[in-house]
Amino acid sequence: MTEWTNDMAIQRWAATPRAMLEQTAHDGDFAKRHLINPVLLRMLGDLTRRRVLDAGCGNGYLSRILAGQGATVVGVEPGQSLFDFAVEQEAIAPRRIQYVQADLCALPNLGAPFDAVVASMVLPAIPDWTGAMRACVHVLKPGGLFVFTVNHPCYEQLWPTWREHGEYRTHRYLTEYEIPGPTGVDFHRTLSTYLNQLTNLGCQLTELAEPGLAPDTTVDGPDGIDAYVHLPNFLIVAARRTT
Ligand SMILES: C[S@@+](CC[C@H](N)C(=O)[O-])C[C@H]1O[C@@H](n2cnc3c(N)ncnc32)[C@H](O)[C@@H]1O
Repeated sequence: MTEWTNDMAIQRWAATPRAMLEQTAHDGDFAKRHLINPVLLRMLGDLTRRRVLDAGCGNGYLSRILAGQGATVVGVEPGQSLFDFAVEQEAIAPRRIQYVQADLCALPNLGAPFDAVVASMVLPAIPDWTGAMRACVHVLKPGGLFVFTVNHPCYEQLWPTWREHGEYRTHRYLTEYEIPGPTGVDFHRTLSTYLNQLTNLGCQLTELAEPGLAPDTTVDGPDGIDAYVHLPNFLIVAARRTT
């Protein structure tokens, strides 16, 4: 495997075409609307006046949703074009979101500790993901909530393999490997790798979710989307900082 650095990975994400940032600026994509965000927002609970970090916020769409639910939001994003887009949206329609351009592994002082940290589809994008997870937990208040989402490590290639074979197929799981995507690179790690690191950081797991798609939702979806009715493409994890 290439020796990826965080900077190399960030440069790839920063090349995301502007059209894609615009397409997903309101509420993300199909999977986020139907599978990830309803669960993630339920796990976060009432956000009124809560201080929330959107770690690896990309174009800032989730930061804007969180702010719309009453949270005081800080969005951290290292990729220049993504950061610029998020800042631009804040200038167009201010929601008191503070955007900070930084790598999670080299965070500046973000001020008071957070009630909650969200890292949606971010940890798989980071070569030094343990440093990033440590930073997310470090900025939480004791008792604060950490919610992260990843492509389900057991079914990462769900949609493309289902479209090709009508079922899920994989031939490797136990080793770390790259998953090149249209806009950036993700890295496969096992389920236990993510969960054990949470425990090592002093967090207590409160909920794991493997959402499936309601069958009637596939009507609007692209070809092969019925895979999401049968198998979980995403894993959503909620944990509390205990110390
Ligand atoms: C798949 S995108 C998810 C973006 C956003 N959370 C969302 O749900 O739309 C992965 C994001 O992680 C960001 N990222 C990559 N490396 C990072 C790092 N070291 N620190 C913080 N964010 C990083 C990328 O720039 C990109 O915005």
